[in-house]
Amino acid sequence: KEIVVSGIRSTGFLHLGNYFGAVRNYVRMQDGYRCYFFVADYHSLTTHPDPKDLRQNVYRVVAENIACGLDPEKVALYVQSDIPEIPELYLLLNMLAYKGELEKVPTFKDKVRQHPDNVNAGLLTYPVLMAADILVHRAVKVPVGKDQEQHLEIARNFAQRFNHRYGELFPEPYPFDYGGGLTRVMSLDGNGKMSKSANENATLYLADDDDTIRKKIMKAKTDAGPSAPDSEMPDFIQNLFQLMELVSAEAVVTQFREQYRQCNIRYGDMKKQLAEDMVSFMRPIRQKAAELQQNDAHIQRILREGARQARESAAATLREARKLIGVHYY
Ligand code: TYM
Repeated sequence: KEIVVSGIRSTGFLHLGNYFGAVRNYVRMQDGYRCYFFVADYHSLTTHPDPKDLRQNVYRVVAENIACGLDPEKVALYVQSDIPEIPELYLLLNMLAYKGELEKVPTFKDKVRQHPDNVNAGLLTYPVLMAADILVHRAVKVPVGKDQEQHLEIARNFAQRFNHRYGELFPEPYPFDYGGGLTRVMSLDGNGKMSKSANENATLYLADDDDTIRKKIMKAKTDAGPSAPDSEMPDFIQNLFQLMELVSAEAVVTQFREQYRQCNIRYGDMKKQLAEDMVSFMRPIRQKAAELQQNDAHIQRILREGARQARESAAATLREARKLIGVHYY
């Protein structure tokens, strides 16, 4: 089976972007691939979260993933910091990572702009740690959203560089999504991608209750509608259709698309339909996640078993990496 790796930072509640861009694909891949899915708790430390919050945030990500349909019997589900081979490989890869190339990474430049007072080395080397997460299992497919594309390119560069210098060890990992392009769910206010740090009222969290979901969707950005038949959709409208395709019946989506094409769409009606379908879609996930979070012991058992499997795979890679580099003495 081909090897798959992906991770989610433990920075709070999962939102629809995480679901659409990542978790949905995890669930689809769990039968056909050898999957390693993890909570990137080290990655979340760049912003110095309160130590009291970490554990709950990690458990929540695990519970929400399972509630979305991930089966811990089929995949290794673990926490990044339970795998010491990851920081070990990170250290080795850091020797092949150049300051100049890391400084050019767009996500790093964004962080520098947003938080000039906290430009720490962990932030600069974020893509190196991410490459270590992936290469430690010698993965070939990485289900992620569009925002992670550049990080994957860097991971491939490190894999090549290592192989070239020390000998063939790492396959090149590629981002993966079903049906072509990587997903980018926009914020409901039309401003950039949906994210944990963006406008709360324009981000749909898996934990939002029915009325919150309705309220947020009814407030989503729309415009006066198309002015001529078959005109091109602005991206925030495209986004609503994309969400509708996720949760509504095909016939319903077709009907609204047709109305859009003929310039007689009523966005109020469309949003009402989307809101109700979204509520029905999200309710069972929310309930299941809440139930799972009542049972710490269950989550701990899952994480312990996930870590055991992940360490086995990671240790084998590190043995090879150390041998090739020459840090191997007896
Ligand atoms: P994170 O925690 O920000 O997001 C987790 C996953 O959700 C996807 N995603 C989106 N997809 C579509 N539209 C959106 N609006 C949207 N917002 C988030 C992300 O693309 C991601 O797949 N660096 C990673 C975590 C990570 C990782 C890894 C991922 C660490 N190591 C190794 C893959 C492999 C991150 O911050 O994701």
